[in-house]
Amino acid sequence: MTKVARPELRELGERNFLWAKAHMGALTTLAGKKGEERPLQDVRLGVCLHVTKETSVLVDALLGAGAEVALAAANPLSTQDDIAAYLSTRAKVWAWRGETAEEYDWCIQQVLATRPQQLIDDGADLHVAAHAKGADGIVGGSEETTTGVVRLRALESGRGLAYPVIAVNDAMTKFLFDNRYGTGQSTFDGIMRATALLIAGKEVVVIGYGWVGKGVAMRARGMGGRVRVVEVDPVKAIEAHLDGFEVSGIERAVETGDVFVTATGQKNVVPYGAILKMKEGAILANAGHFDVEIEVGKMLSEAKGVREVRPNVEEVLLPGGKKVYLVARGRIANLVAAEGHPPEVMQMSFANQYLAALEIHSKHSQMENRVYGVSREADNEVAAAALESMGVSIGEPTEEQKAYSKSWTG
Ligand SMILES: NC(=O)c1ccc[n+]([C@@H]2O[C@H](COP(=O)([O-])OP(=O)(O)OC[C@H]3O[C@@H](n4cnc5c(N)ncnc54)[C@H](O)[C@@H]3O)[C@@H](O)[C@H]2O)c1
Repeated sequence: MTKVARPELRELGERNFLWAKAHMGALTTLAGKKGEERPLQDVRLGVCLHVTKETSVLVDALLGAGAEVALAAANPLSTQDDIAAYLSTRAKVWAWRGETAEEYDWCIQQVLATRPQQLIDDGADLHVAAHAKGADGIVGGSEETTTGVVRLRALESGRGLAYPVIAVNDAMTKFLFDNRYGTGQSTFDGIMRATALLIAGKEVVVIGYGWVGKGVAMRARGMGGRVRVVEVDPVKAIEAHLDGFEVSGIERAVETGDVFVTATGQKNVVPYGAILKMKEGAILANAGHFDVEIEVGKMLSEAKGVREVRPNVEEVLLPGGKKVYLVARGRIANLVAAEGHPPEVMQMSFANQYLAALEIHSKHSQMENRVYGVSREADNEVAAAALESMGVSIGEPTEEQKAYSKSWTG
């Protein structure tokens, strides 16, 4: 079910689907080769992903492999309604932009009501909901993002997983490019579409220097921002320091920061107390999966006033009289205030999702109920297809070099 399904919206969705497809050669080439014999014929797939133009290309590939797809959104605000409208002509879709928390859960329940045999998830809400219902008939699934993998590993070591899950996030062709280059670019796309302000000359505080944080910091610097990194992992903090960034705790960062971007997967990394000490006009945005990183709830409940000054920008009048600006309500800014990652990045993430769906289907009976990584072979296959789509060719080691790397005599 999509709330808005006017014909012109469907047409726009189709145009966006075709645009993305034309830039996702790695996925379409692999799907073209592997999907020919319809390896997922009549397999019911339950999917919970951000409903973007790139996701429509994955759904197209899965349908081409013979699967039946039931889709819900991975965030209440990230659905692109044109894509939902277009996909609803080809699959079962329960997604619209601006779902309430109850509607979001309801959509996920609708996907489970189709009795999926395999799940594809982003953030693990679908997996967790499936486990709460006993996971009957589900033979396996995959997970797209860091936070989802963290939750599934916690489930695995806690009450136990009911089926095997492939952690697509852990593929090198996923986290190195999607988390870093995808989020790096699209987070600023979101902040800039929302605020229309200049990044150059501003102090951008990046909280978390993992794969997402590295990308955000890199792009902030590229646009002339002065970057400060806040980390709690000593190794990552050294990395940020040697990459040439200021490194400090949040207490120091609030004194000079202009734009704060969270990228940790952890809660309250920008606590309300820190927000109170920020400069007038500070901008707050989150790139992490859930809206828990900035202490938004407390800030809004204590605020003297909150008003939307632009789409996706709320002005928050703090008790002391200062104003700060919240982008995308503290939700995943690149997907709420922009369109998520570019298709050239998602071609790799979703090629991995496609291969994971095939692997679960063909090998689930030999797999244990645990979280699996992605094999080096699959990573190389996706990387080779992506290189080809980008028009980049590389060499390979000579026979002499291969022998040399296996010898100890020199
Ligand atoms: N916006 C997107 O499209 C997108 C894309 C990929 C991942 N994500 C999400 O972004 C988040 C980060 O993902 P990642 O792959 O970079 O994870 P990561 O594990 O590589 O990095 C997280 C970093 O945050 C640091 N951290 C944890 N607690 C902290 C704290 N209190 N203060 C400062 N730093 C802290 C960790 O030490 C780590 O270096 C996750 O929620 C992930 O699901 C979002």
